[in-house]
Amino acid sequence: MTDPKKIMFECRIVPVITIEALEQAAPLGQALQAAGYTALEVTFRTPHAAAAISAMKQACPELHIGAGTITGTEQFDAACAAGSDFLVSPGTSDALFNLFDTVDIPVFPGVASASEAISAFERGYQVQKFFPASAIGGSAALKALAAPLANISFMPTGGIHGANMQEYLSLSNVVAVGGSWMIDKAAVAQADWAQVTAFAQQQKS
Ligand code: 3PG
Repeated sequence: MTDPKKIMFECRIVPVITIEALEQAAPLGQALQAAGYTALEVTFRTPHAAAAISAMKQACPELHIGAGTITGTEQFDAACAAGSDFLVSPGTSDALFNLFDTVDIPVFPGVASASEAISAFERGYQVQKFFPASAIGGSAALKALAAPLANISFMPTGGIHGANMQEYLSLSNVVAVGGSWMIDKAAVAQADWAQVTAFAQQQKS
């Protein structure tokens, strides 16, 4: 299995993408790759998610294309069938953990508390999504978890943007941050891929 940390360490910022129109998937992947991103999370929040993952993987074979918003069997099966390189969930349940146990790709289960993080760690997940980060204490909460949960690393998402991402990335227990702030949605709607790349590149620094 790919080391979950390796996926995140190449570029520590993971765009979280919601695909509104399938034809946007491949050029959006290419535009974000041109901006220097190496892993993308495609959310299962529109009917296009699975097809978008397949299209992006075909257009950008070097990218790690993950599936997000995995909350049940339907999304899980579709994400796996589409060839997702990793899975992300906003939270967990026994049923979800049982599904995750059946795959050999990295899974980042969502947690929002020390108890949830310990439960996920007990199930074998050392790198977890911390969600919704800004609403549950942000970087201060993650900093406070670092000493008691020394073996657990996090990818926070939710409310992260260019101005606060360094607060998170500077923490010892944060492997990467995720979010949608680097995507210029107006440029995506207009298929202005040069602008999508330029904006996404600017939002990394
Ligand atoms: C997620 O699913 O991780 C979030 O919706 C991304 O959060 P953001 O849109 O606030 O960046």
